[in-house]
Amino acid sequence: MIMAMAGSAVGLGNIWRFPYMVGEHGGAAFIIVYIICCLVVSLPIFFAEATIGKATRKDTFGAMKEVSPSGRFKEMGFIAIASSFIILSFYSVVGGWSFDYLIRSCAGAFSGKSIAEAREVFAGMSSSPTESVSCMLVFLSLTAGIVAAGVDKGIGLFSKVSMPVLLVMMVVIAVVSLTLPGSGEGVTYLIKPDFSKLDGPAIAAALGQSFFSLSLGIGTILTYASYMREDESVIEAGAWTAFFDTGFALIAGFAIMPAVFAAGIEPSAGPSLVFETLPVIFSHMGYVLPVVFFLAILIAALSSSISLLEVIVAWLVEQKNLSRPKASFLVFLFAGILGAACAVVPKVFNTCDFVSSNVLMMAGALIFAIIIGWVMPREQVLTHIKSRFLYGLIRYAAPVMIVAVAVTNLL
Ligand code: PFF
Repeated sequence: MIMAMAGSAVGLGNIWRFPYMVGEHGGAAFIIVYIICCLVVSLPIFFAEATIGKATRKDTFGAMKEVSPSGRFKEMGFIAIASSFIILSFYSVVGGWSFDYLIRSCAGAFSGKSIAEAREVFAGMSSSPTESVSCMLVFLSLTAGIVAAGVDKGIGLFSKVSMPVLLVMMVVIAVVSLTLPGSGEGVTYLIKPDFSKLDGPAIAAALGQSFFSLSLGIGTILTYASYMREDESVIEAGAWTAFFDTGFALIAGFAIMPAVFAAGIEPSAGPSLVFETLPVIFSHMGYVLPVVFFLAILIAALSSSISLLEVIVAWLVEQKNLSRPKASFLVFLFAGILGAACAVVPKVFNTCDFVSSNVLMMAGALIFAIIIGWVMPREQVLTHIKSRFLYGLIRYAAPVMIVAVAVTNLL
């Protein structure tokens, strides 16, 4: 389960968002704030969410019903399921693009191309409804297939095999990238601390990114924790997940930025960096590197999307008595419909992204903190998280920070 949690955490957020945010918000200064946010807010929320899952051993909806006998938090179960569904839908679009680009790089489609030509390839692919919807459906069916295979034989096995492979692939790319002439500037971009860029929005961005990156606030960690063995500790699970997730984000940063600077290109966020600039840069270094890069992105995206789908499948299996394969197929069908809308209409994509990261995840995290800090009996909580200091962080610090950041983000 720890590998599966790390798999959920390591995803597109680490590869295309984190490296750019670091450069944008002051290099090492941002990394320091990011790590503080992780330790003071996100990790305590992780422990809170995992404790609810492990203590109740139920899906998100069942767990919410159990921890609030008067039914006050029951609706939160639905919010979590809805958020997972929304994130899964737009995440699958990007997962589909990775699949598309993996096939293209296997065919050597980027060798000899300029960045302007690669830009046209991306625009053509992402605006072609047939291509983007069909690749999204392939990605979603892979996700549903892994989840349908079961918690141990599907999710567990996939995570155990894919995480170490993913790590090796990223390290190889980082080593190649760091040995390029001119890569030093990319290293400087990532590590030079510039504290003047650390304003309120930068701190809010660090916390928001650490929530997204650790998959918090929408029931994925809760659901996975409900499958933990009795002797597995939520503290250990959280510490390993955060360590792996942050380490991977840093390695991704060193794989991407030095290559970008070595090619003399200004770094940019999101799709343009991963799908326009990098394929061209990596294809200068031979046929294999773009294939490894897109395979890594595909694996990282899949290990996250299975955790999103599992939240909904666990609810359908436990509360609605559907079989796991049937539930997986049903979610595939509905997420495929919203995913198609996200693939074809950019506004739907952006709205789903904004609402889930800025509203739903924050609301979810706040409710998990309140349940653990103020609703569940203190003694029961302490049997899982063991430390009064952590309990205090969950009870006081985390809710205050979440509200402050939510307000900053929405203003
Ligand atoms: N943590 C994933 C990433 O960094 O890409 C995204 C994610 C997965 C968010 C699962 C939320 C979630 F429940």
